[in-house]
Amino acid sequence: MNIILLGPPGAGKGTQASRLEAERGMAQLSTGDMLRAAVKAGTPTGIKAKAVMDAGELVSDDIVSGIIGERLDMADTAKGAIFDGYPRTAAQAELLDALLAERGRKLDYVIELVVDEDALVERITGRFTCANCGTGYHDKFKLPKVEGTCDVCGSHDFKRRPDDNEETVRTRMAEYRAKTAPILPLYEARGLVRRVDGMADMDEVGAQIAAILDGQ
Ligand code: AP5
Ligand code: MG
Repeated sequence: MNIILLGPPGAGKGTQASRLEAERGMAQLSTGDMLRAAVKAGTPTGIKAKAVMDAGELVSDDIVSGIIGERLDMADTAKGAIFDGYPRTAAQAELLDALLAERGRKLDYVIELVVDEDALVERITGRFTCANCGTGYHDKFKLPKVEGTCDVCGSHDFKRRPDDNEETVRTRMAEYRAKTAPILPLYEARGLVRRVDGMADMDEVGAQIAAILDGQ
């Protein structure tokens, strides 16, 4: 099964994708995470992407589609791929169709996380992750069980994203409205779109997604 999680910054795409990965053995394909890894490693792609990401704008369609194509060839996507933060433009949507078709695969669902944008700034500015294993937390909605210690790996080292400040978040949201939201009608016309209430708590959102994937 191959699905897209679609929604604005902070909608919960990454949160739900990593749950699906843990629960169903599907692979989370997050272009944001891949680009941040490239920035950290100082690769040519990372060097090109850094300033664009820091400004909250979109990296070029060719770069992200290239990294998604390579990622789709890895064995862990055999049980299914969860596209998190990709596609983000009509051109990327078209490229994804081609990448899947070349591999004899197809899209099953496009799951839209429907959210109230005003609440998302709080979600994003409160977000932090374990610097060692990447587990996601939130200052208000998901604190580690023991203060200052990662629940999963026990690390005491946490980090925040450079683009998680209010000004950049506003640009990211404007980019979503202008370039990403318009791809929904394309998928709607193909009967692929399902909607979940992204404002519900994380478990409830997960249950709604599970019901769709299980055909209930
Ligand atoms: P990317 O990394 O994809 O960021 P984004 O789309 O802005 O989305 P976020 O990761 O901020 O939010 P999310 O929906 O994953 O929310 P999360 O689950 O973390 O992209 C970053 C940048 O990379 C882009 O701006 C662009 O420059 C570039 N880029 C990436 N892909 C690209 C592409 N395809 N094309 C071009 N450029 C690209 O949740 C947020 C917080 O809320 C967390 O703290 C979480 O704990 C909490 N939370 C989650 N769900 C709930 C809930 N139900 N209730 C309460 N809190 C919740
Ligand atoms: Mg994310």
